Amino acid sequence: MNALPVSREIIELKRRLGDDLLILGHHYQDDRIIRHVHFSGDSLELARRAATSQGRHIVFCGVHFMAESAAVLAQEGQNVYLPDMSAGCVMANTAPGPLVDAALQALHAHGRKITPLTYVNSSLAVKAVCGRYDGAVCTSANAKEMLAWAFKQGDGVLFIPDKNLAQNTARAMGLGPEDWHILDMRGGGQALREGPEAARAAGARLCIWPGCCAIHARFKPAQVWEARRAHPDCTVLVHPECSPEVVALADFIGSTSAMIKAVDAAPDGATLIVGTEWHLVNRLAQRHAGRKIVLPLFESICSDMSKTTEDKLLHTLRGIADGSAAPVLVDRAEAALARNTLQTMLAVCP
Ligand code: 13P
Ligand code: SF4
Repeated sequence: MNALPVSREIIELKRRLGDDLLILGHHYQDDRIIRHVHFSGDSLELARRAATSQGRHIVFCGVHFMAESAAVLAQEGQNVYLPDMSAGCVMANTAPGPLVDAALQALHAHGRKITPLTYVNSSLAVKAVCGRYDGAVCTSANAKEMLAWAFKQGDGVLFIPDKNLAQNTARAMGLGPEDWHILDMRGGGQALREGPEAARAAGARLCIWPGCCAIHARFKPAQVWEARRAHPDCTVLVHPECSPEVVALADFIGSTSAMIKAVDAAPDGATLIVGTEWHLVNRLAQRHAGRKIVLPLFESICSDMSKTTEDKLLHTLRGIADGSAAPVLVDRAEAALARNTLQTMLAVCP
């Protein structure tokens, strides 16, 4: 199919749906999608925008947990749509709700009050479990503030599911490996109930779920050394989902929006090596072409983020216009618990 008519029809449907429609796009989306969104942002900015939107139809160009969070925050009469319902997140998949629940039960068996803090990159089921234990959500942009909040709530924290974000954030707060323990969840977390693993978890201020993002796990220290060898004056920027070893070698660590601002603020002539999903790095390279050199630390693509295409966006908009589009549905009871965790984050980090 010719891309031009598809693009034109999207523009026409946006015009027809007017203020009833809000299209949100995460920074990892393809440029052919980003050009159609009303607002692009990092996970925190998108959650804030979804929570305050008045539009009846919110189309989320991103992955499932993002659309699900928007659906949880949606008001009566608002619907959220994901152009490809199969766009998931491999990191979110590392933490099934029942297993998180089992871990929290085991951690509480030692008589301590453990506050769960889940990265927004997690399922509705996990957010609901966190809601039952008076926990909250964080994003890469506010992990430090939210972890400080969580430490104040009880005797310890369980951070789910990103072990890299957890360690990088704890380090930035002055904590060290003696303060945390990465849980061994093999065998359904059985080891957490008794024995040495249970003792280690019981002694840690911060318990960490052993998940990570496969896309950011592709960045390695050797790539940073090679970038510095090839470009001695370069600045290396990485996302906090990268391993602590990579983060330790970088000059700047931040969320996708924080990295965009840092690249925009760099002086002309600068060489910037960016360690995050390739679509964002490529957009920055194009935006600054001829003035700054922006290169990927390594070309790493999130195949789930890439599932949103113009054809699927058009299909969703046609469905909204004729009433046939299927919105993201959330379980009412789970949504009520998950809403508390998201609203806590939005209240602590307005
Ligand atoms: P942020 O845009 O919040 O930094 O998130 C990165 C990410 O991996 C989203 O899936
Ligand atoms: Fe999930 Fe990583 Fe893809 Fe983000 S980049 S959606 S964390 S798999």
